[in-house]
Amino acid sequence: MEQTLVLLKPSALQRGIVGEIINRFEKKGLRLAGMKMMQLTDEILDEHYAHLREKSFFRELKDSMMATPVIACCLEGVEAVQVVRAMTGATNGRAAAPGTIRGDYCMSNQHNIVHASDSPENAAIELARFFKREEIFGYEPATLSFKYSSGER
Ligand code: TYD
Repeated sequence: MEQTLVLLKPSALQRGIVGEIINRFEKKGLRLAGMKMMQLTDEILDEHYAHLREKSFFRELKDSMMATPVIACCLEGVEAVQVVRAMTGATNGRAAAPGTIRGDYCMSNQHNIVHASDSPENAAIELARFFKREEIFGYEPATLSFKYSSGER
C-alpha cells in the first residue's frame, strides 16, 4: 500500500469545506492513516516549496499557507499518490476539470484548497516533514476485502 500527504490549505478552512474534502477521500476508499491541525512556519514552507523559491509569487504563497492552520492528512491505498493527485486536479482551479476538488471548489491558482504529493518519492519526504512516525497509524479496514481484490492489494 502507498501513502501520500494531503494538506487542506487555509482556503479550505476559511471556506468551511474541510469535512467535505475529507469525505471525498474517505468515500473513494482511501484509508486515513494520520490527521492533524498545524500552524505552518516560514521554515517548513521554505522546504516544502523549495522548487518555487525563485518564483515571484513565493512570498505570497507562503503567507497564504500561514494565514490559518492547515489540516495535514496521510492517506493510504493502492497507488494512492496518483489517485489523490487525480482527485485533486490541475493546479489552477479555473483550469481544473469539474469533478476534481480544485475544479469543483475554487477559482484560484494559489488559493486552491489542497496540496497533494506528486510522486511516491516526494510523498515519503513530505510525510516525514509533516508527521512524526507515531502520528501515522496502521489499522486494517474491516472493508478491505470489498475495496480490492486479493491480487490488487
Ligand atoms: P506546484 O507545485 O506547481 O503545483 P501543485 O500544488 O499542483 O503540485 O505549486 C505549488 C503551489 O504554488 C500551488 O498549489 C499554488 C501555488 N502557485 C501559485 O500561487 N501560483 C502559480 O502560478 C503556481 C504555478 C503555483
